[in-house]
Amino acid sequence: MKLTMEEQDILDGSQGGMLQRVMATIVAYGEALDAEKLVDITGMGHFVIANVIPGISPPLEMLDSLIKAGLKTAYPFTLDPAAPLDHDNWWLNPEQIATLQHMYADQDSYDCRMQTLGLRDLQAFTCTPYQPEVGSVPQRGAILAWSESACVAYANSVLGARSNRNGAIIDLLCNIAGKVPLSGLLTDAGRKATWRIDVATEHRPLPQILGAAIGRTVLADVPYVVGLDRFLGTGLGPHTRDYLHELGAAAAAAGAVGLFHVENITPEAVDQGAGLLTEGYRHAVINAADLRDLVDSYPVLWVDKHADPDKCFLGCPHFSLNQLEWWAAEIQAGLQRHGRECLRVNTTICAAPQVLEKFIDNRQGWEVLSRAGARFSSACPMQAFDNDLSRGDAIITNSNKLRTYTHARFFEDKQIADIIVTGKIGRRA
Ligand code: F3S
Repeated sequence: MKLTMEEQDILDGSQGGMLQRVMATIVAYGEALDAEKLVDITGMGHFVIANVIPGISPPLEMLDSLIKAGLKTAYPFTLDPAAPLDHDNWWLNPEQIATLQHMYADQDSYDCRMQTLGLRDLQAFTCTPYQPEVGSVPQRGAILAWSESACVAYANSVLGARSNRNGAIIDLLCNIAGKVPLSGLLTDAGRKATWRIDVATEHRPLPQILGAAIGRTVLADVPYVVGLDRFLGTGLGPHTRDYLHELGAAAAAAGAVGLFHVENITPEAVDQGAGLLTEGYRHAVINAADLRDLVDSYPVLWVDKHADPDKCFLGCPHFSLNQLEWWAAEIQAGLQRHGRECLRVNTTICAAPQVLEKFIDNRQGWEVLSRAGARFSSACPMQAFDNDLSRGDAIITNSNKLRTYTHARFFEDKQIADIIVTGKIGRRA
């Protein structure tokens, strides 16, 4: 890789041994990616490494070494959702609580270290940093080194910023150096679409299902999606942004999609249209039967496949304010439909701290859901339930990502409202 004089100096140790090691790691990363050079990061960071889980999070000794050397990120950063230590919101049994407390025993000191390294503040934990209330919204064209697959997909596709799907730890190191290898989705060539996907449904498909279908088809490639403007209109209004953040999270979980273009909607597709397609691109059509078959193929992984559900998690990825209000209206309608006042399934709804704060300020939707017995959290259901202790829990969700990573059972939004009100699957009480 060609390095600038400044980069070479750092690599030679001119700014201390710790930054030298950081730079050496980034250079090795760049060489593995066949990058020709490093480029400057120009926007805030967002990292997947929010929790101190031994074997997954960066070793605390490494963080201490970075801090001791006086290093921090070039821009403040946000982190994925906070550890699920708000036990009351997750309907946990004592054994689950004790285990989570043990797993996250070092969380406070981890958070403190992250703040020293550039964490924006102690409310900067969410997988939707790009929501306006959270305020980490990169500019179009910004060069980033983000991780968290759903965030990367949104930043690239909807905001037109540029980030590869970086792994944990290397994301932090790149942002400390303020440099990232120029490769993949940072380049014009890497942002071209190698697939054209035609959405041939009569009605607007659910984004969580369409996203999964796209992810399974293109895997890690870049799709150019045609036909969604029939349902979403052109350009990027708030509802379209919500739709695409769900679609992107599902595509990133079912495949490894880091960027998708949607004709007449996403910024690069609006500017370049079908010119984004590479020569010899591949082509697939997704129709309603494909989506139905996909959902029907999802196995029921519950210990008792015929159990009544006992928990429901919504907001993976974290909901926007509009989505919270939509769910409040949907659940209220479900309660009225069934003549009930409270939910029969223990339900937790997730959103960023700043989004929840605004939702509570708005009062009406929050009061409806609180009266019905729903709880709220800014943590991540996967962190709380991706373990053997939860094996026996009959969990339902509308999140294809959560379904992919845990034994939660997937239902469409409209079904969920009836199920959590009645406590029953497949029939109306
Ligand atoms: Fe967010 Fe956790 Fe889902 S990070 S996308 S709530 S798995």
